[in-house]
Amino acid sequence: MHSRKSICPDTMVDLKEQYELDGQSHLFSHWDTLSNDEKKHLLGNLGKFDPAKLSKDCADAITLAEENSNSESVIEPLPVLSYGSVIGDDVSRNLYNDLGLNAIRNGEVAVILMAGGQGTRLGSSAPKGCYDIGLPSGKSLFQIQAERLGRLQTLAGSKVPIQWYIMTSEPTRAATESFFRENNFFGLLESQVQFFNQGTLPALDLSGEKLFLSKKDELVESPDGNGGLYRAIKTNNLLSDFNTRGIKHIHMYCVDNVLVKIADPVFIGYAIKNDFQLATKAVRKRDAHESVGIIATKDNEPCVIEYSEISKPLAEAVEEDTKLLKLRAANIVNHYYSVKLLNEKLDNWVDSMPYHIAKKKIPHYNNTTGEYITPTEPNGIKLEQFIFDVFPSIPMSSFGCLEVERSEEFSPLKNASGTSNDNPETARNAYLQLTTSWLEHAGAEVKKDILVEVSSALSYNGENLDQFKGKVFDKPDQILN
Ligand code: UD1
Repeated sequence: MHSRKSICPDTMVDLKEQYELDGQSHLFSHWDTLSNDEKKHLLGNLGKFDPAKLSKDCADAITLAEENSNSESVIEPLPVLSYGSVIGDDVSRNLYNDLGLNAIRNGEVAVILMAGGQGTRLGSSAPKGCYDIGLPSGKSLFQIQAERLGRLQTLAGSKVPIQWYIMTSEPTRAATESFFRENNFFGLLESQVQFFNQGTLPALDLSGEKLFLSKKDELVESPDGNGGLYRAIKTNNLLSDFNTRGIKHIHMYCVDNVLVKIADPVFIGYAIKNDFQLATKAVRKRDAHESVGIIATKDNEPCVIEYSEISKPLAEAVEEDTKLLKLRAANIVNHYYSVKLLNEKLDNWVDSMPYHIAKKKIPHYNNTTGEYITPTEPNGIKLEQFIFDVFPSIPMSSFGCLEVERSEEFSPLKNASGTSNDNPETARNAYLQLTTSWLEHAGAEVKKDILVEVSSALSYNGENLDQFKGKVFDKPDQILN
């Protein structure tokens, strides 16, 4: 934790002195010009953090990045026993699906959505989940996911609504919550949607020592990375909520994937069948330099090597016999956790997860000149935790990775419109291609160059479309609800 309660129990002035002792005197250059309220506000903000601990975590993160790039660890693909695939294997798929649906029906499954990121690459100031990717219906990512959840409940014949826990952060919370309210929770029950916040951390300069002000009386802060999920589960007491409700299985995913199979029964059934305590899904990496983490083993422990930290030779290594990339299991941030595992490990994860550094352009307030600075080059460091850094703490026998078809499960929205990939156009197209293929599979005739939007409220995975058998679709922008 970065809380400094133990360091500064006395008065606000002690806090200022402590920050000065910890090398942060620059934060007070304008102290004498601040009103009493501003002084109080600034100290209230500083009181949330321990600057000495922050500098230490940052130094450790810099060392970790160096160690990762010079590492002599042995990185290998996952062993066969921890790697399954449902591609072209309908028998396994159906078996897992039945197990998963049964668990959903019994109220044992809940979903966590990570929606605390700021989506800076997309260039939109609204939370990513509110984004309209240009489907004929104009639906947002949140709406697609909510309707898919509702459809799955019906499909499974759930005895209780599937609980949907949505992790937001200070920058995304208010807009996310009001978006759901304005849209009546997209047909779900308000009581089945629970918002909770992850933490934030102050940014540091490139030396990793000095904090930035965002204005006269506040630090620059940003969400603590998607690995902040574990601390957020703890501080928001979610574990006791899972236990009280009898939830045994958690599907966790991230907001930006338009194809995500929320609470996927196949994935849940795969973990149940194999008694995996933690599992993840993979698709085949598009090319050596796709911005995805790689699911692999490091010195025989399960891990993800993040795209920002993998070396070029490792990313490009090719298998001699198949000519495929050696490390090609792309992380699509669909993770499964047994609640039993969370009960056992959560506290330990919260205390032991490392930080990573992300060098960023950090707009800030210069309290000597009174100017607001918008840098054009990276000028600072944000500290982030990665959700998958807990993977090595799981014995290989309890860890599984399920390979799934990219065109059915993964089309992330990362970049702004007009970029070369992973943008609103590719997400829209992936959704429409998939739902059109469902219709064709159900016996409809879809004319050349026509794409049809099947509502996620109507079909979760291509089922429930028999009524369109023999129908001809020859007009653009049709929506089936
Ligand atoms: C992430 C994965 C990467 C994977 C890729 C696939 C991590 C650390 N990286 O990378 O391995 O291949 O997605 O699309 O998991 N988020 C928060 N709070 C934060 C930061 C992010 O909730 O503080 C959420 C975002 O809202 C999003 C998800 O985490 O839902 C992924 O965040 P993002 O920063 O876009 O991840 P990538 O860098 O694309």
